[in-house]
Amino acid sequence: MDKIRFALIGAGNIGRIYGDAFAHVPDAEIAVVCDPVIAAAEALAGKVGAAYTGDYAEAVTRTDVDAVVVATPSGTHAEIAVAAAEAGKHLLVEKPLDITLERVDAIVAAAEKTGVTLGSVFPLRFSAGVHKTRLALAAGRLGRLALADVFVKWYRPQSYYDGSWRGTWALDGGGALMNQSIHQIDLAQWLAGPVTSVIGRTATLAHKMETEDTASAVLTMQNGALGVIQGSTASWPGDQARVELHGDRGTIALEEGRIVRWNLEDASPSEEEAMLNLETGGGTGAADPTAIGYEKHRRQIADFVGALREGRPPAVQGAEGRRAVEIILAIYRSAESGLPVSLPLE
Ligand SMILES: NC(=O)c1ccc[n+]([C@@H]2O[C@H](COP(=O)([O-])OP(=O)(O)OC[C@H]3O[C@@H](n4cnc5c(N)ncnc54)[C@H](O)[C@@H]3O)[C@@H](O)[C@H]2O)c1
Repeated sequence: MDKIRFALIGAGNIGRIYGDAFAHVPDAEIAVVCDPVIAAAEALAGKVGAAYTGDYAEAVTRTDVDAVVVATPSGTHAEIAVAAAEAGKHLLVEKPLDITLERVDAIVAAAEKTGVTLGSVFPLRFSAGVHKTRLALAAGRLGRLALADVFVKWYRPQSYYDGSWRGTWALDGGGALMNQSIHQIDLAQWLAGPVTSVIGRTATLAHKMETEDTASAVLTMQNGALGVIQGSTASWPGDQARVELHGDRGTIALEEGRIVRWNLEDASPSEEEAMLNLETGGGTGAADPTAIGYEKHRRQIADFVGALREGRPPAVQGAEGRRAVEIILAIYRSAESGLPVSLPLE
């Protein structure tokens, strides 16, 4: 069986993680690496045995490419993804899909129009603990859900932002929420949402940057549950990111998608122990963005490749990737106006 061949657009931090992840997906390979920083493209291409180019338009129109990974600064995703869809290539796009709903919708529309498959990258959705939590919630084992809370108390030094696209409105589209907390916000909304309204506050406290390094929000879910989001890159030394779910019959807490608390009224001690030992380790970006490891990206790439082979949708489709972006934009809008904001956004 021929391998599915990808163009990898962006050879930065996450591009290098894709290089490691693809090495462990047997029926796919990177055919070309693209980055305007040619030395970065060449180095990664050399490592993965691919061609390289500095021009994404050339990469996404190559006849030996079936699909494209978009791993460039967040505010450039739509431009590249739409060009790739128009060239008939399937799309696996890093979080956030893009930084405005108009551009997110442009990607979704381009994929629909051209009939290509669109996957939205949220690797934590591929953790076994998240899967078990979904099943417990669906079976009503937490009872009446009361709280769905997100804590991303991370740390980034000033050097992370200096001279970078990070922390800019134009290319990052936000800060601690749009760049870092989005993974856990996606989990909270997937597990306990949809979110119907938010009240938000944002602040820039410890860094010289345009966007927020600290944010708090109160969420209301459609099912009536409440939740808070605490997101920061000014919280040294940086804790594991948590999602906590509480109902009147149980509590589950996840750290980076791993179950760290499984207290359900109907759970046996052996089940609790099994859940706590479901997955070991896994990297965290709490203090170092390059320390996340490639395993969950590997799982998402494998699912995407399986979807292409089997002609089924991938586990995380484009419309799913839109949800966390919409929640974050609603929090920014609330922070600006001082008023609660309802979803869906106008
Ligand atoms: N899923 C995750 O866990 C995760 C982790 C980190 C970053 N990300 C996302 O991945 C994206 C990239 O983040 P990063 O940390 O790798 O950034 P980075 O700055 O380390 O790398 C981005 C690379 O893209 C290149 N680039 C810029 N414009 C380009 C263009 N038009 N064509 C081709 N290449 C271009 C840059 O030269 C740079 O090498 C962001 O959207 C970010 O949110 C996801």
